[in-house]
Amino acid sequence: MINEIRGRKLKLLYSQDEILKRVAQLGTQIGEDYRGKNPIFIGVLKGAFIFLADLIRRIDFPVQIDFVRMSSYKDGMEPSNIELIMDTSMPLMGRHVILVDDILDTGNTMTFICDKISSMCPASFKICVLIDKRERRRVNIEPDYVGFEIKEGFIAGYGIDWAEEGRNIPGIYVVD
Ligand code: IMP
Ligand code: MG
Repeated sequence: MINEIRGRKLKLLYSQDEILKRVAQLGTQIGEDYRGKNPIFIGVLKGAFIFLADLIRRIDFPVQIDFVRMSSYKDGMEPSNIELIMDTSMPLMGRHVILVDDILDTGNTMTFICDKISSMCPASFKICVLIDKRERRRVNIEPDYVGFEIKEGFIAGYGIDWAEEGRNIPGIYVVD
């Protein structure tokens, strides 16, 4: 079991069981909202890859997926400039789009992606995040589906990294 990353101790925040229960609820809710709409889920790499994989497997009708990749937290806990490193490969015009990310923090990254997706004229566009750090928000953006809301602290695990490590830890931990 991994209990530290680069010498920093990890404190359990959500166990894998708790996460999977909540993800199942989100999947059911999204499934009810999008049945018959042929939705496309766009995962934000790399942090959302495990969340997206678990989420779409709770949906009992065919869906499509695509990915975008941004860079913001480059190495460690300090944010740097946002850049689009990888764009979607499927046309989004007229599609029902659900953007899926790991964490909504200041909202800067999400705003950048939202502007881009909105400009592609989707039929509808909603945001799903596993973790909402709403107290740190700096721009006006509201997620439509939220797994958990947390107040502060830097977290890792379940796809979420600290300096590119910790993504393979099954639960979510606070990095001390
Ligand atoms: P925002 O632009 O400040 O909203 O940053 C959101 C992105 O920063 C998330 O998608 C994460 O990739 C990253 N991030 C924010 N908080 C954390 C954290 O506690 N651990 C790891 N990554 C984080
Ligand atoms: Mg991210």
